Amino acid sequence: MFITFEGIEGSGKSTALTLLSQELSRRGYDLVLTREPGGCGLGRAIRPILLDARTRGLHSRAELYLFLADRAQHVGEIVRPALEAGQIVLCDRYTDSTLAYQGYGRGLDPEKLRHINRMATGGLQPDLTLLLDLPVSLGLERAGLRNQREGTVLSEGRFDAESLDFHERVRQGYLQLAAEEPKRFAIIDATQPPEDVELQCLSAVEDFLARNGCILEP
Ligand code: TYD
Repeated sequence: MFITFEGIEGSGKSTALTLLSQELSRRGYDLVLTREPGGCGLGRAIRPILLDARTRGLHSRAELYLFLADRAQHVGEIVRPALEAGQIVLCDRYTDSTLAYQGYGRGLDPEKLRHINRMATGGLQPDLTLLLDLPVSLGLERAGLRNQREGTVLSEGRFDAESLDFHERVRQGYLQLAAEEPKRFAIIDATQPPEDVELQCLSAVEDFLARNGCILEP
């Protein structure tokens, strides 16, 4: 099973992913936790170029191809082998990030983005996508505090520094994507405390499994 986590900056994806993974591990599931960009060696080399606020003048198409190079390698090296081995893959960001950020955010053509996503992934789609949704102002405030706390304002801050309009377009883009594919997406209320967000994620996994005739191990 392939589960992706999506959302704007500061939506708490990483915390939700960690908490959900602890609960699923406790129930005996064999998991792989990974992320984009940076879930494989190539991606770890690309990530600083994409996220460092000191990267200047990166063209939106060059940015796109760097995300896609990371994705192609990551799917081939990490995600597909894990799924083939029967593991559950929990991935922090995937193809919907490209549609939301490069499409709705930067204004690149969504149909071309879908096509290039398919080329990079060989058509591998998530089974379930948890969209952590919250107002942009709250997300940016949380992300700003986290970056200050962790000393990553410059090294990870390139997207955080985009305008409020940009982030609003990304948020609305995600909600639109979720409306187009209601079976794949679960919208999680990310304004709630982490334990509550985790429970919402767990119940989305349960619902997904129940729809597919399985039950979650207790
Ligand atoms: P990430 O580590 O997910 O940061 P956070 O957890 O703080 O949101 O950062 C990745 C950044 O890259 C994020 O701002 C979204 C952006 N991104 C894209 O623009 N397109 C993509 O395809 C992906 C995977 C990420």
